[in-house]
Formats: sequence, structure tokens, C-alpha cells
Amino acid sequence: MIHFLPLLLLIISCPLSQSNQFCDSGYGCGAYEGGLSRSSSSKILIKGGTVVNAHHQEVADVYVEDGIIVAVKPNIKVSDDVTVLDATGKLVMPGGIDPHTHFAMECLGIESIDDFYSGQAAALAGGTTMHIDFVIPVDGSLSAGLEAYVEKAKNSCMDYGFHMVITKWDDVVEREMEIMVKEKGINSFKFFLAYKGALMINDELLLEGLKKCKSLGAMAMVHAENGDAVFEGQKKIIELGITGPEGHALSRPPLLEGEATARAIRLAGFVNTPLYVVHVMSIDAMDEIARAQTSGQRVVGEPLVGTDHCSFNSTQKALGIDDFRKIPNGVNGIEERMHLVWDTMVESGQISAIDYVRVTSTECAKLFNIYPRKGAILAGSDADIIIFNPNSSFEISASSHHSRSDTNVYEGIRGKGKVEVTISGGRVVWENDDLKVVPGSGKYVEMPPYNYLFDGIDKAETTYLSSLRAPVKRSRATS
Ligand SMILES: *[C@@H]1O[C@H](CO)[C@@H](O)[C@H](O)[C@H]1NC(C)=O
Ligand SMILES: *[C@@H]1O[C@H](CO)[C@@H](O)[C@H](O)[C@H]1NC(C)=O
Ligand SMILES: [Zn+2]
Repeated sequence: MIHFLPLLLLIISCPLSQSNQFCDSGYGCGAYEGGLSRSSSSKILIKGGTVVNAHHQEVADVYVEDGIIVAVKPNIKVSDDVTVLDATGKLVMPGGIDPHTHFAMECLGIESIDDFYSGQAAALAGGTTMHIDFVIPVDGSLSAGLEAYVEKAKNSCMDYGFHMVITKWDDVVEREMEIMVKEKGINSFKFFLAYKGALMINDELLLEGLKKCKSLGAMAMVHAENGDAVFEGQKKIIELGITGPEGHALSRPPLLEGEATARAIRLAGFVNTPLYVVHVMSIDAMDEIARAQTSGQRVVGEPLVGTDHCSFNSTQKALGIDDFRKIPNGVNGIEERMHLVWDTMVESGQISAIDYVRVTSTECAKLFNIYPRKGAILAGSDADIIIFNPNSSFEISASSHHSRSDTNVYEGIRGKGKVEVTISGGRVVWENDDLKVVPGSGKYVEMPPYNYLFDGIDKAETTYLSSLRAPVKRSRATS
């Protein structure tokens, strides 16, 4: 059922117990409990929790007003009109930021099943409060691509930003990149070294792109696999008679990722601009990144916690039932990642809660230049907050998740820790396993250029150029 509130906000209530499908304005949905939800309160006090930031943790109260964190300190006193949430014994942390999603993305003629609305609802139920999606140009046009994505994101129920993919090169694209950075709040561009015949670009375009990124203070991102070799590998595997999904992995062995990662790193080093390698999947690629980092090059790998959420349901996946090359690429993850990272990394003792905050939100906010507005529980930051109970537990299942997909790659996984409350833009949207999201309430977050990786890059350039001066003096012999 759909209920219009006096505020003209559309609130959807979707108890987990009631449905295994995602609730949106077109589906049947849990009944609204009547009266104005407490989630509409604009003043919230989170009492007695351990507030965790990437630099420090302390027991403190957090006071939120009109979507912004106003104060973080012990024993805050408030009046009766404030919603009070007890967080005693629990952790109060910044909501997750997922740097890598593909909502409503067209792939082989179909669209990924989670759009901005269902994908974001899933995110919020899992404690992620912001994501950055990839705008795909339309026939190479960045502005047409952006227009299409602005339309796709219209019903957003949490904050989001955009990266921009570059698929061709000419003067128009170059000018549009400048407009994206200076007027549209986009500070990163992605280049595909894979997907021959579709998104793949050659080294000449990559070099042009890296130079342009550098001149704009934008981050260059690469999908690093050798697309020509993957194409060759696919032919070989099909010729061997392997048509099932295992052919996908067999046709693109790690050395092809290692080669493309090494090439992208060296070309970015040659141009002297920062590089972000998305979804690092193999030791070969990781070794290249680690080596570059050790040598002081500004290279970032995305191994840990970007989800690449790009889900397709079983009907869509079945398009490739006789040929793995026709399986739309991608799986879910945005709802699961905060729990999985906690369980596999913190619960197992490998990293601390402080590190957890760093890898799930703060570092991403810094890389995309929106810290401390995002990725921190500080006075003045956006009120994107989770209350996490480390003593509770979670279980993943397609029957209770919020994605529109009928399958979940993490089906059946259980672990410790649970996101009990999610606050997005100062509104309680997830509490008691109950999701109350407001379509249209999500804001587009503009991301400025020149993140910290650009600091000092000019000096490095000057040093490099001066080192190139030819020491040998020559003079033309006169007759
Ligand atoms: C979780 O367990 C710890 C250790 O036993 C305890 O100090 C804390 O209060 C518990 N928190 C909750 C919310 O039960
Ligand atoms: C998958 O999504 C497509 C497109 O929305 C739909 O037609 C199909 O019925 C869905 N399949 C399942 C199993 O949910
Ligand atoms: Zn991706």
C-alpha cells in the first residue's frame, strides 16, 4: 500500500518478516503503522554508545538536528521533542560508503535488476548510506550519459555520487570532461582496458585520458584486464567445449589482470597522475599495486570493500545458459558488505573497529574528497550513522534481503555483529528489521577535484623534469 503523508513524503514500510520481495511503489507492501513515524523527527540523540571514527573512539552521545551532526560529547541533555536512541554497549559509526555500484546499468541489452531505489534500500538495510555509481556515456557522449543517470537516480532514498566512464576520445569528450569536473561535481573517470568491442579503450586513449585527468585534478580509474587477450581466451575455452559459467574464470586468468594493472600503473607513472585500480581480483594485480605503492607512486587498489554491486536475477543470468560469454556480469553485495567485512575482518581479530571505519567509509570519503562531510561522526558532518551491535548476529538469504534479485551469492552465510539502526540524512530509516525509506530524499553529492593524492604532485613533476636536462653541452663545429 502507498500512503501519502501530510508532508507529501512517500514512506514505505517493509517488515522483513513479511516479504521476500523488495517493496516499492509498484509492489504490495507492509501497512503503514499510522500516525507520523518517528523517523520524521528531525532531532535525534544517540545515547551512551562508543563512537568510532577512523582516528579515535570514545564513549559519547551524538546529537543530530536537521540532517547534520551538531554535537559529539558525553552526557548531552535534550528536550522532550528529541527522539532518543539508546546505544549503550553498541558502536556508533559512520554509515558505509560504497565506491563502486552499477544500478539500472544496461548490459547486453538488459538492465541490472536493482535500480537506484531498490539498490539504495538494500544498502540502507545493510548500513551503507552513500554509494558512487558509474555513469555510462550514450554513444560516447558524457552529457547525454549524465542526463540519463540523473533520471535513473530521481527516486533515490540515500545520498549518491557519480564516476564517469570514458569510451571514446575527441575534442567534445575532452571539453565535456572539463564540464563534468568544474560544473557537475564529478571528480573521477573510469577507463576499461577490458570488454573488447564494447567499453574497451586502447593505450593511446588511456594516455590522453590520464593527461586530461591530471590537468583537471580528477582521479583516473581503470578496469585492468587485457581485453584483447580475454577475447582470445574466450575463443579458446569455447573451442575446448566449455560453455558453462566456469568458462568465465578460465578464459581470463590472473596474468591478464596483472599485465593490464602493470601497464596502467606504468602509464599513470609516466604521466605522473594518481591511479585507482577498481576491483583488484588477483595476487598478480595486487603485487603490482603493492610494488608501486612501496616505490612511492600514488596508486590505490580497491580490494577490500567496494562491492561492484550489479545484480541480475536468475532469468537474466539464464541468457547465458549455453554460452558463458552471454551471462550478464555481476553480483550483489551492497546490503551484505558491512556485515561481511565486520565478521571476516574485525570479529576474526585481523583489524580493529577503527580500521573498520577507515576501510568502510573514511578512506573512500577522503579519496573522493568529501571528508569530513562524509565518513566521520564529527560536529558538522552529515548525519549518516549506524548503530552496530557486535554481540548480535546476522544471516544472509535471498528470502529476507532487499535486493530485487531472487538469488544471493552469499546465501546462508551467518556471522557476528548486526547493523541495528541506520540513520540516513538525519532520518531513522532502518530499525527493528524495518525499513522506512523515502523516495526522492537522497541527495546528489558533488565531489570536488584535487584529492589528497594530488598534494605535492607538481613538485614531483618539477623534480622529474629538471632531472631530464641533458648534461652534455654540444656545439656545432664551425667551418
Ligand atoms: C556486548 O558484550 C560486551 C562484552 O560482554 C558488553 O560489554 C556489552 O555491553 C555488550 N553489548 C550489548 C549491546 O549487549
Ligand atoms: C527477472 O527480472 C525480469 C525483468 O524484470 C523479469 O521479467 C523476470 O520475471 C525476473 N525473474 C525472476 C526469477 O524474478
Ligand atoms: Zn564495476
